[in-house]
Amino acid sequence: MKIMVVGGGGREHAIIKKLKENKEITEIFALPGNGGIAADAACVPVKATDIEGICAFAKENAIDYAVVAPDDPLVLGCVDELKKLGIPCFGPEKKAAIIEGSKVFSKNLMKKYGIPTAEYEVFTDLESALTYLETAPVPTVIKADGLALGKGVIIAMTRDEAKQAVKSMMEDKIFGESGSQVVVEEFLTGPEVSVLSFTDGKTVVPMISSMDHKRALDGDKGLNTGGMGTVAPNPYYTKEVADRCMKEIFLPTIDAMNKEDRTFRGCLYFGLMLTEKGPKVIEYNCRFGDPETQVVLPLLESDLLTVMKATTNGTLAETEVKFADKNACCVIMASAGYPQKYESGYEITIADEVKDCVYVAGAKLEDSVLKNAGGRVLGVTAVEETLEKAIDSAYAKVQKVTFANAFYRKDIGQKALQALK
Ligand code: AMP
Ligand code: GLY
Repeated sequence: MKIMVVGGGGREHAIIKKLKENKEITEIFALPGNGGIAADAACVPVKATDIEGICAFAKENAIDYAVVAPDDPLVLGCVDELKKLGIPCFGPEKKAAIIEGSKVFSKNLMKKYGIPTAEYEVFTDLESALTYLETAPVPTVIKADGLALGKGVIIAMTRDEAKQAVKSMMEDKIFGESGSQVVVEEFLTGPEVSVLSFTDGKTVVPMISSMDHKRALDGDKGLNTGGMGTVAPNPYYTKEVADRCMKEIFLPTIDAMNKEDRTFRGCLYFGLMLTEKGPKVIEYNCRFGDPETQVVLPLLESDLLTVMKATTNGTLAETEVKFADKNACCVIMASAGYPQKYESGYEITIADEVKDCVYVAGAKLEDSVLKNAGGRVLGVTAVEETLEKAIDSAYAKVQKVTFANAFYRKDIGQKALQALK
């Protein structure tokens, strides 16, 4: 079987490593992949947003199954185009990917179907947004409607900051067209939980829960990043919370998408906040999370390709999806300076004994030498019986990976550990 994975980050590396456990797969292509992924898949220099290029490659190479991992190609309709060529795919069609592609869509969906989320207002012109903010409660949260490389959310502590944020999105267009509509949202508090789920549009199977660490520095300080580390499971996500989420959020969302004629198939990611008034949706993503995938998939005991195909074929209810009763911790190693200015081009060395648990995000091969080529460079995951051991083991493995100016948080998992105590 020939498989194609669209994307080229740590998430895609984790997907590819898991897929490789299936012995029926003879070849895996990554479009575009990266220098680290090249150890596990044939990397093809086609951008993840080049839908035409992706389709042409898939057809020429008689791909049997495609996995479209990142948000942009999904929102652009990559799955729709591949399906037209008769290539079965993991991932939602364009009309379902809008659940991540438009915050206005997802907020209105939740309101219409009574799915718990923060109170909000939508604005399409700057003047009304500014007028509203004269009296809005603060802190408040400003969100650009469209995709913004995970940076489209600004938490404003004061009304002035809120107005500035709206201006930067609607007037200065810092996120381009993504900011032509904005959502101004109630500020919620509580522990955050990421729940990725498999769904075929009828059945929804939540994966093991996880916790991301979005800020750049220890103690949740510094700027927001794409994620500096993750642990799974998330101790705040108890059986009771899980049951409530299934009833109040997961099933109603699948149902709502069906009623809107936007059946969702693939991985639906629920970003949740456990507030005093119960779990609420902070965001939906139409794909696997990064770096959540780097802790969730190493705990998956079932065959990933079988589960993925079940979401495509509508047979998820009859398919076993089993996770190990263990704990995982992933520490992201970044280039110093990330998420702002950083240097790259330094040689990365990875000791043989940790190669299996390193997921490369930003690196390229130059004359067979692996060099860093991005802000987030790689993630190192450990799986152990307890969270404490997983954290210790992940940090021990980090010592076996080196590159100049490497930077990582020292406290990944500590909040989860405290919650357990
Ligand atoms: P997102 O880019 O949608 O993942 O949002 C980034 C982060 O902003 C989330 O992980 C939350 O920590 C925070 N956030 C988003 N919406 C809210 C909200 N309504 N109240 C408080 N924090 C929020
Ligand atoms: N880790 C958050 C995301 O993938 O959007």
